[in-house]
Parts: sequence; C-alpha cells; structure tokens
Amino acid sequence: MLIRRPSDIAPSEITPRALFEDRRQFIRDAGLFAAAAGLAVTGVHPRSARAQTGKGFPNLKKGAYPIGEASTPFKDVTSYNNFYEFGTGKEDPAENAGTLKPRPWSVSVEGECAKPRRWDLDELLKLAALEERIYRLRCVEGWSMVIPWVGYPLAELIKRAEPASKAKYVEFTTLMDPKQMPGQRMAVLDWPYVEGLRIDEAMNPLTLLTLGLYGDVLPNQNGAPVRVVVPWKYGFKSAKSIVRIRFTEQEPRTAWNKAIASEYGFYSNVNPQVDHPRWSQARERRIGEFTKRPTLMFNGYGEQVASLYTGMDPKKFF
Ligand code: MTE
Repeated sequence: MLIRRPSDIAPSEITPRALFEDRRQFIRDAGLFAAAAGLAVTGVHPRSARAQTGKGFPNLKKGAYPIGEASTPFKDVTSYNNFYEFGTGKEDPAENAGTLKPRPWSVSVEGECAKPRRWDLDELLKLAALEERIYRLRCVEGWSMVIPWVGYPLAELIKRAEPASKAKYVEFTTLMDPKQMPGQRMAVLDWPYVEGLRIDEAMNPLTLLTLGLYGDVLPNQNGAPVRVVVPWKYGFKSAKSIVRIRFTEQEPRTAWNKAIASEYGFYSNVNPQVDHPRWSQARERRIGEFTKRPTLMFNGYGEQVASLYTGMDPKKFF
C-alpha cells in the first residue's frame, strides 16, 4: 500500500526503476539468506497469542472450505503485518501494537436495521459456534499467506440485526484512539480506517467475523480483538480491530479509496487479469517460499463467490 505524499514518495519514483528493482531483489535475497541460516528474517519476537491467554479456544469446530495447503508459520503470520495504525513498516505492528487494549471492547451494530445494538466482546465470543477456517490471504502488494483463523460467518451477526431493505452495504470502522494506536497521530490515512462490502458479500458464508488465529485470541497486530476476513478480496478489505458495523444505503467511502481512488476500488476482488495501475497482479509470493506462484481468480474462491458479480465488468468495478 503506497501513498503519494511529499514526505513519503515511493522509492520507485525517485530512483531509476532498474536500481530500485535491484535493491528490492537484494533485500529479498538477504531475507532468504537469513532464513536459510535459521535466523529470524524480521528480527522481531512477536508476543505469542498463546502467551496472552494460556488456554486457547476449547472445542473448536474444524471449519468449512478446506484448501489443502500448509499454513504459514505462526511467527510470520504475527510478525509480517499491515496495520497502519501502528506504523507503515511490516514489522511495526508486532513491535508497537502492545498499546492496544483489546478488553473491554464492544462492537456497535447500527444503521438501516430493525434491531441495532451494541455487542460486548464476550457476547460476540458466544454468539455462534467458533470454527477454524484456513484461508488464503492475498495482499494487494503481491504477497500471500495461509492463515488458520477462528471465527464464524459474519451473517450470524448480521441476521440478528434484521437489516432493512434499504441496507445495500455494510460499513466496518476500526477503533479511533491515537493513544492506543500511535499511527493515527500521523496523517497517513484519513482515520479511522473504514472498509465496506455489499450486503450480499457480507452475508456470504465465506465472510468471517474473526476472533482468533492459530487456535487462540487474535494477537494485537492481527486486529485484536475482532476483525473481518474476506478471503476472495485483497487483504485491505479485511478491517482490523473494528468497533462499528453500519448498514447503509450508499456505498461506504473506504479509507483506501479516499486516499487513492484510482488504485483502490470498492470491490478489490483478487483478479490476476486486472493489474494494479502500478504493478501486475498475475503472480504472488507466498511468505516463506522462493518461487512466485500464479494468483488465482477470486483467490481460489470462485466457486463460492463468482456468481455475486455476474454481468459486472471487473475492470470497471475493480
Ligand atoms: N485494518 C486496519 N484497521 N488497518 C490496516 O492498516 N491493513 C489491511 C488489513 N486490515 C489494515 C487493516 C491490509 S493492507 C492487509 S494485507 C491485512 O489487514 C493484513 O492482515 P494481517 O496483518 O492479519 O495478515
């Protein structure tokens, strides 16, 4: 996620492209060398989720939609993150997210619905049977992971709110608190982070209200204590540490769309045939692997979601 601000111009724009590519290759090689030598690539030691609670989630259901791929190691899932509220570097969230207080926490469900209400975190934890869902996560930047999330379909929560017929979209808002989220003191994005889905996307059984990963509560850097995960869309659609879910008639203005509308559209379905304006989306680097692999249409979830977009031009609705 690159932002065009005078103080933060992408190196590709100030360095000749070839040099920039070389530098990136050098950094990648250095990382691989460190990995081969058994050293920590990032040098950070994330707080372990297990260390936070010591017990994990008992009686987890094995989830639907198995993909038959190995999960990315816990260390990488929790130390290579995008969470701009804690800094723009990949290691920043693991280093800085200790200031986030995931309890007490509640999520307000409001807007165009018959039964708006505020849900306490403990109520959310008991609302439906938690299951382990192993999903691919494809970041718009060209890397991917496989993550064993813990949660249940967001539809479970949505249906209890009884959305009105006017409710065409669902908006998700992250906590706004610069004391807990020091990155919000910088005007990197128009805070708070906002994302959105069409209501049928939000109701799709793949869309997960996510309360944990690797069998335990969410580490702060992964969006504690509750986030959304939408596996067929680029990772930025999956808002972290949410405090509000709002049903709207109009398409929500999302944080990334407000920042760079030409690059980050509302839909952002993973699509190897539609390039990002500044790079190809045809391939991806799975964290921990050397060779890039082809990116799958809808991130491999076409069977479940392609019908949501029948008749829509993916170049127009990117
Ligand atoms: N949510 C908030 N509030 N702030 C963010 O910066 N980054 C997004 C998404 N959700 C982001 C966010 C991006 S770009 C990605 S790729 C995923 O979170 C990364 O999730 P992970 O760090 O748990 O893998």
